[in-house]
Amino acid sequence: MFSRLVKPAKTSFIKSCAKNFRTSSYENAKVAVCGASGGIGQPLSLLLKESSLVTELSLYDIVHTPGVAADLSHINTVARVKGFVGPDQIRDALKGAEVIIIPAGVPRKPGMTRDDLFNTNASIVRDIAQAAAEVAPKALVGIISNPVNSTVPIASEVFQKAGVYDPNRIFGVSTLDVVRANAFIAEAKGLDPAKVNVPVIGGHSGVTIIPLISQAEPKVDFPKDQLKALTERIQEAGTEVVKAKAGAGSATLSMAYAGARFAFALCRALKGESNIVECAYVRSNVTEAKYFSTPLLLGPNGIQKNLGLGKLSDYETELLKAAIPELKKNIAKGEEFVNKK
Ligand code: 2OP
Repeated sequence: MFSRLVKPAKTSFIKSCAKNFRTSSYENAKVAVCGASGGIGQPLSLLLKESSLVTELSLYDIVHTPGVAADLSHINTVARVKGFVGPDQIRDALKGAEVIIIPAGVPRKPGMTRDDLFNTNASIVRDIAQAAAEVAPKALVGIISNPVNSTVPIASEVFQKAGVYDPNRIFGVSTLDVVRANAFIAEAKGLDPAKVNVPVIGGHSGVTIIPLISQAEPKVDFPKDQLKALTERIQEAGTEVVKAKAGAGSATLSMAYAGARFAFALCRALKGESNIVECAYVRSNVTEAKYFSTPLLLGPNGIQKNLGLGKLSDYETELLKAAIPELKKNIAKGEEFVNKK
């Protein structure tokens, strides 16, 4: 299973990443944000409003969305903004959405793991997924709510029960791991961070985050101890922010940036642009874990091709071995939550 290698992703990540933040007169999409009033949701909605890739921006949350929507609607960009508040309005918010991004839920406090959020966030994601399955079953869905390793299986099970599951359309947003890896590697080597791409595979927590520094573009080399330190920093970068915020939550601004980058990639893929490649946590048969993040070629129907693991170094193979049992546990927990009596 670990040796089941797929050709490395040679399609230019860097080109597609740079393009994602450029606005253009490209055809546009209806995008919905669930959790739009929160720490991630607000800056994410701002970035989406700023892009001409979005014609309609539907903002859903349990509080404050009328205010957030009124505020954003005064920005002189093309997207029409509407706010929807409370569970009674979620179906109206999601109806017709082509892209749904879900940052809803509570963030970590110091000392917590992402899994500690399960009890609160699992039902939030389940209920949003239920509404999406009913009114926007063909949408491309990007889940940010933690623990992503479990919330993606939760949403997938909900879609499956509703009879509308398409594994190519549900994504766990692990883009922030790639963004962080690019930033830290660029810093260590004195490179332009916008021109670095490090694929990050696995899941989105601790040891399940596997940066493939051996596949970085441009190619970089590190002594063993520095490679280990960098890898561990990428794995624990979310916790670094949680500690620095000292009780005020987890990463919001960098996560909004990463969420927007992923949403723009989906919008571009929807409109048929070629060579859109992003890593994301999806239903997968690349390893023994039922859900796993790898570089994906995206198209109008979501995943066009899973580009697989590529060639791993011995060190990365060990990281992968350590990740699989944790991932399987997280996945089973999500599935059991939906399927319990
Ligand atoms: C992070 O990685 C919030 O999970 C998010 O910081």
